[in-house]
Amino acid sequence: MTDYFRGKFFIDGEFKERYVEVENGKIKSISIEKGNGKVKALDGLVLPAGVDIHVHFRDPGEESKEDFYSGSKSAIYGGTSTVADMPNNIKPINSQEVFNEKLKAITGRSFADFALYQLPIGKEIQGAIGQKIFMGKSTGGIISDVTKIINDERVKVFHAENQLCLDKYKIDDKDLKSHDNSRPLECEIEAVESISGLWLNNVLIAHATSRTVAEVANSFGFKVEVTPHHLLLNREMKLGPLGKVNPPLRKRIIQEDLLNYLSKGLVHVVSSDHAPHTLEEKEVFESAPSGMPGVETRLPLILMLSKRGIISLDYAVKLLSTNPAQTLGISKGKIAPGYDADFIITDLEEEPIKNENLHYKCGWTTFEGFNGIFPNDLILRGEEIMVEREIVEQPRGEFLSGEKRRGKNNQE
Ligand code: DOR
Ligand code: ZN
Repeated sequence: MTDYFRGKFFIDGEFKERYVEVENGKIKSISIEKGNGKVKALDGLVLPAGVDIHVHFRDPGEESKEDFYSGSKSAIYGGTSTVADMPNNIKPINSQEVFNEKLKAITGRSFADFALYQLPIGKEIQGAIGQKIFMGKSTGGIISDVTKIINDERVKVFHAENQLCLDKYKIDDKDLKSHDNSRPLECEIEAVESISGLWLNNVLIAHATSRTVAEVANSFGFKVEVTPHHLLLNREMKLGPLGKVNPPLRKRIIQEDLLNYLSKGLVHVVSSDHAPHTLEEKEVFESAPSGMPGVETRLPLILMLSKRGIISLDYAVKLLSTNPAQTLGISKGKIAPGYDADFIITDLEEEPIKNENLHYKCGWTTFEGFNGIFPNDLILRGEEIMVEREIVEQPRGEFLSGEKRRGKNNQE
């Protein structure tokens, strides 16, 4: 067991040559001089590992698309040590019993530490990290009863598309353009405005697709999540059914404007909204389910944006690690005493994203042609999980129960 890691750690916005002491998986101290104990030198630049608080690993129930083993493996290869999984399983997570079944099914099969959301049901499901609220129907057809939201301190993640508005614009979607027209921006904005009337705390507006949605959300004091696909892809690209997602990819100028908005520093979190479907399901646009994979490319793409000077590395780390962890109320996402020793080691060099190098069960990505910065190594709670781009451990991801986080959210 290593007592100290020595390396160039990203601390308070810059790389510092330090000794980081680890005890029971947590950072105990950070110092310039070494104390007594075994030292492991880390070769490269050390960042906090990623925290992705919006994934759909489909487990249990739809293991042909993904499962916790394959999804969490992809997370690790993409530099993410921790995920929070959404409750729109085939058997929706709407009771303690179903939640417990899900937890039992996935325990022991995750390489990453993991948390699980519940749907709003008028009471807290013990262990759930927060609530996911569907204001409009998406994959899974769930629509939430907002009177069943509990306003406790745990995060409330909103899929903000207003159902009445979606009904009004509904047309047969045959391509990315008509899919966008059938679920226009207006429906997102209406949903965000209606959430303001609910007077809730710790609200996160999921996958904002435009500057306006983000600005409206910010004006109500909500946190804003964006995805790499809404930042980098648009409806003018030749993605076909693979690019079908809810909320939709927008016009190029809206996408570029969102990317511009990111550089202003007012977005709180970047999540992948990793939502894989099989290639067979994605063959025909009209019948294709919405959603695309992304857990393995999220951190590499955002690090690429920082390398190119679109955002600072400090902000990239906040978007990828520090803020998502803080939103859940978990002590991860930062290299500081008291936080989990979850690190990635990288040389910050760009390389082309290639489908054949990714680990998704669905076997496809919409990000071929983009560059990413992939980590070489990943350390989870002081243990080396990935070494030189190979996972060297059995799944040892731990469940992060929401109960332990009570009162810890919004600490900073
Ligand atoms: O495109 C989407 N896919 N949007 C969602 O809200 C759900 C997700 C899924 O689960 O496939
Ligand atoms: Zn989602």
